[in-house]
Amino acid sequence: MWEKRSATSLSRLLPRLSERFSDRVEAEEWQGYVGRLKTHFPHLFQLLYKLYSDRYDFFYHLENILAIATKMWLARPDDLKALDVIRQADPRWYQSHRIVGAMCYVDLFAGDFQGIRDRIPYLTELGITYLHLMPLFKSPEGDNDGGYAISSYREVNPALGSIEELSLLATELRQHGISLVIDFIFNHTSDEHEWAKRALSGDPDYQEYYRMYPDREQPDTFEKTVNSVFPDEHPGCFTYRNEISQWIWTTFCNYQWDLNYENPIVFGRMAEEMLFLANIGVEVLRLDAVAFLWKKQGTSCENLPEAHLLIQAFNALVEIVAPAMVFKSEAIVHPDEVVRYVSKEECPLSYNPQLMALLWNTLAVKNTRLLRYGIEKRFTLPEGCTWVNYIRCHDDIGWGISDDDMQDLEIDPYKHRQYLTKFYTGQIPGSFAKGLTFQEKPETGEARIVGTTASLCGLENSTNDNESKNLDTDLAIKRILLLHGIILTIGGIPLIYLGDELGTLNDYTYVDSPEKEGDSRWVHRSEFNWELAEQRRDSSSIPGRIYLGF
Ligand code: GLC
Repeated sequence: MWEKRSATSLSRLLPRLSERFSDRVEAEEWQGYVGRLKTHFPHLFQLLYKLYSDRYDFFYHLENILAIATKMWLARPDDLKALDVIRQADPRWYQSHRIVGAMCYVDLFAGDFQGIRDRIPYLTELGITYLHLMPLFKSPEGDNDGGYAISSYREVNPALGSIEELSLLATELRQHGISLVIDFIFNHTSDEHEWAKRALSGDPDYQEYYRMYPDREQPDTFEKTVNSVFPDEHPGCFTYRNEISQWIWTTFCNYQWDLNYENPIVFGRMAEEMLFLANIGVEVLRLDAVAFLWKKQGTSCENLPEAHLLIQAFNALVEIVAPAMVFKSEAIVHPDEVVRYVSKEECPLSYNPQLMALLWNTLAVKNTRLLRYGIEKRFTLPEGCTWVNYIRCHDDIGWGISDDDMQDLEIDPYKHRQYLTKFYTGQIPGSFAKGLTFQEKPETGEARIVGTTASLCGLENSTNDNESKNLDTDLAIKRILLLHGIILTIGGIPLIYLGDELGTLNDYTYVDSPEKEGDSRWVHRSEFNWELAEQRRDSSSIPGRIYLGF
């Protein structure tokens, strides 16, 4: 059925696309593009059909989406089209043992894009070949969830540089063997995005870009089954806006408006923004908050089948337009759900939150039972797919360990999570860790943990305690190296949070800044300390012992 339907639509659409675009390129190049379109169209058609065929104007939207794809392929710079060819010949390039990842905020690590260019020698010395630059697009002034509230996907934060400079940076990184990774924050935009502003001014077409409700009837029904992700920020998942008298779906902060992917126009417009990022020279696109993309009453509105269809549809477009770019999933959910996002058709790369949580669990309980059990069950991925293994990132550490696994090993999940939280906030006798809680839910006692690797491994405590300082410091350094040793050797892409290679400690000054003090994740997002880095080759210094240990 699918073959026939998709073949008929392609035979109708192709001549229309050729008429519109083919005179702008050489025949040979156009044929290459059409070849990819023919290969991937049947899958794309099937996905979009499942998502949107109940709309009377489905074929209009389908044509529009293909026109966007073609326009963005025409705009793709020649060097990236050349990279597409290279990557197609080596489609598993990201599985090379050469790939070592690092992540940082541009401003905190090096000031601006020029600063990053100046620091390339540091990155290459460390062996970095994959660099995730945290959100760098235009965002509201003040609190903006660390840049995860995007006001424009086409303009960068002016303090960092310009979009042209970002593109030059991507090229320069590539020339040094480093692939640029950035976020595609596509579950929501900020309330200052042009679309949100138009919605706020009352434009009904733009109100359809988001999920808005005039009264509490539907929000109340949804909230019976939906979890609050940032309960400290606002209870539930809706925010009322007086200007338009509407309740707006805001999974995260009240200024982050969830997009309405039931509207095919939103899919098309976001596809265009995504391909714009591909054309800057991004090689790995980190898909932010994938679990929340689709909503349906009576469910948790997380990990719904349509979220997978959407990601696969975006992926099919990338295969057609910009095959040099691959997706990495950010699904920080139950470990059985995490793996559902991982496939060649969806996200070939994925964070491995299970391994992260289990590593911290192992350090606290001093045995590897749960770690071995969890990875035996869920470490193997489909062919061509790879974990991104990390110890901590810019976010909190959640105890995303399967309840079933714990019960199989006769561990009480609730009590055990509470133990881990207490351990990492230093409330258990003998605990070496110095972490804080994040988004504690007093009703259930659940909490997540924040802190730098070094502070959670005991280095902060050891430097405060003079008597047993040497032994405690030695142990803390060993723990840091042990954790990194595992992610560097277990298989997959190791991802280092820059600063952890020098033993950076928690930074409590975030409480002095009004836009940060409500979000304890800032305790582990401190400014990179270049003075510590100066000591990296001194094997008698703490930073040197850690760095040389790496
Ligand atoms: C992701 C980001 C996190 C952010 C959230 C909302 O989980 O990692 O930092 O708060 O998405 O965009």
